[in-house]
Amino acid sequence: MQSLRLKRKIDHIALALKQQGQSYMSGFSQVDLLHNCITEVGYNHVSLSTTFLNKNISYPIIINAITGGPKLATNINIKLAQLAKELSIPMAVGSQTIALKDSNYKTSFSAIRRVNPKGIFIANLSAKSNVESVYQAVDMLKADAIQLHLNPAQEMVMHEGDREFSGLMENIVHIKEKLDVPIIIKEVGCGISYGAALELKKIGIKIIDIAGLGGTNFTSIEGMRKKYQPIDPGLYSWGIPTAYSLAQVSAIKDLTIIAGGGINRPLDIVKALSMGADYVSMAGLFLNLSHNYTLKESLEFMEKFIKEIKIFTALTGAKDVSSLRKVSKIYKEDIKRHMNREP
Ligand code: FNR
Repeated sequence: MQSLRLKRKIDHIALALKQQGQSYMSGFSQVDLLHNCITEVGYNHVSLSTTFLNKNISYPIIINAITGGPKLATNINIKLAQLAKELSIPMAVGSQTIALKDSNYKTSFSAIRRVNPKGIFIANLSAKSNVESVYQAVDMLKADAIQLHLNPAQEMVMHEGDREFSGLMENIVHIKEKLDVPIIIKEVGCGISYGAALELKKIGIKIIDIAGLGGTNFTSIEGMRKKYQPIDPGLYSWGIPTAYSLAQVSAIKDLTIIAGGGINRPLDIVKALSMGADYVSMAGLFLNLSHNYTLKESLEFMEKFIKEIKIFTALTGAKDVSSLRKVSKIYKEDIKRHMNREP
């Protein structure tokens, strides 16, 4: 089982890399930000700094859960941690189950803390994990928070995946009662609906990462691993596109929202923040940078990327994340149907 898990981690990296830039289904074309010709903000006056878990960060961007375990994953994690340090942004690791089963793999996760002792790091396990595993995962990174992932679509298509989901919410409640670091509930590319987010809020969850459809697609990755040809191709486009998921959950008050899933363009980030996301997260884009580019090249790319976020922000007339919330935008009819459902 452990060697299968190792092989799966390597497959995921290779197949996710192939997918990058392939689809553009995240739904942000449903939202138009209006140009503000009387803006008095120059892009160098835009500040994107904010706080995450009460710590200052330079940008509302999170390096999302990707990997850990094999040597390839260790190299990726170290590069990502260097990037997180230089950019002063938080970083999550991939599922730590592999290291809980075999302690040889722990360093692929714990190495990031040595790279960036003061960084904000987020542990990662399945939301079905037991409390003892959660404690160990947090301890492995001296993590500031833990992501508990929900991935029913991936599991059901995965040949060797889970088939049993009963007791999930009760388990999250149990972990929450025992744990003293914040919990982030995240999807892995199928999105979180208004109803599901509301249920999560009811059990005391304060932070979610919607990780919607439109970027890395795990049902398709699991299918590709086994060359599974579905009768219904809809199996590989199942999920709520990120912008639609965000439109749904942003109606919920007192919930911190991380918008992830297919986010890889500066304008989409500005749209997501203006729609009510508190942060955005990216996995595919950072995987591509860490795998295919040097740290210097990645930093040059991110400098350009952030400059363009600032240009779009300035062109709406906003000067920071909170003023972006108030800028004029037009929602197309399709996405409008997902909005305005006050609890
Ligand atoms: C992931 N993702 C992920 N998420 C998680 O909670 N635990 C995990 O172990 C992994 N593993 C993983 C491996 C690889 C190679 C990738 C690219 C991604 C999912 C990730 O955190 C994110 O939610 C989705 O990939 C959607 O975001 P992007 O990739 O479209 O930006």
